[in-house]
Amino acid sequence: MMRIKFALLALTLVSCSSEMNKMDWKTLSGDAPIVIAHRGASGILPEHTLAAYERAIEMGADYIEPDLVITKDGHLVARHDRYLSGSTNVSDKAEFADRRRSDPAHTGLDWFVEDFTLAEIKTLKARQPRDGRSKTFDDQYEIPTFQEILNLVASRNTAARQIGIYPETKQPAAFARVGLSHDESLLNLLALYGYDDADAPIFIQSFELENLKRLNELTDLKLIFLTQSLPDFGLIAETVDGVGPYKKPLIGKDGVDTGFVKEAHSAGLAVHPWTFRDDQLDETFADIETEMKAYYELGVDGVFSDFADTAIRVRDAFDPNE
Ligand code: G3P
Ligand code: CA
Repeated sequence: MMRIKFALLALTLVSCSSEMNKMDWKTLSGDAPIVIAHRGASGILPEHTLAAYERAIEMGADYIEPDLVITKDGHLVARHDRYLSGSTNVSDKAEFADRRRSDPAHTGLDWFVEDFTLAEIKTLKARQPRDGRSKTFDDQYEIPTFQEILNLVASRNTAARQIGIYPETKQPAAFARVGLSHDESLLNLLALYGYDDADAPIFIQSFELENLKRLNELTDLKLIFLTQSLPDFGLIAETVDGVGPYKKPLIGKDGVDTGFVKEAHSAGLAVHPWTFRDDQLDETFADIETEMKAYYELGVDGVFSDFADTAIRVRDAFDPNE
């Protein structure tokens, strides 16, 4: 189905209101960009744990981002990868030693989530996967299900604040090869929690356009196409509401705007670049504040950050009229 561009709709509604100050931002809607807590507060806690999502909510993140993979018995759980060695203690579990195997889409031997039931996944604990970050909280937190994440968000929502969720379908084609799919479980769970129209505080994201095309047939929820490079905006605008690009194609090495955001906006697409990390600076910028300001200046509609508190602080201090 053709997408009614949510941002253009929002733009129209804002234009008709008296809140003209919202138009100061160069975003599609004229509102301030959203801050998406990438993998939760993953800069300080093991990623994709309830503790990390809860900390991000406390920081004031607008959205929390679960990457979703699928267990052998069809449950959606939050991990960045199908393989488990990087972000869990699976390698220490003698009872799973014989599950280690090769995989056509992976280099070397590992343990893969689709070989484990949810009950087995629940015996694992999360670990900090990135070098240079604290391992103080390793082996403390379970791998959460998507439903547990929805429960957390529901329990923290108030009349004044609706926390958004930004789930990613991870490697849907690889899961399809073993007879597993994100789509029905994802949409059924979301419907159960009241996410059922284009205004719901949710974006579903994927690197796989075919998966987004299927989802577009099944739902009006907002969809985002993830990409490493410049896509054909006109083509993807038939399927999605926005694009989640790697941040570098938006600003050249010389620090100059490449025109990516304007071109996407012209096609009615929101732009949510990734990933901003206080502890992994882009060489183009002197510090994280300068980097984030440069992207806010472009008019991006949201940012994925491992340090949501920093992204919020820089956004809230940013004057779009300067
Ligand atoms: O989903 C946005 C961003 O997270 C894409 O990269 O690999 O961190 O999921 P990745
Ligand atoms: Ca992601």
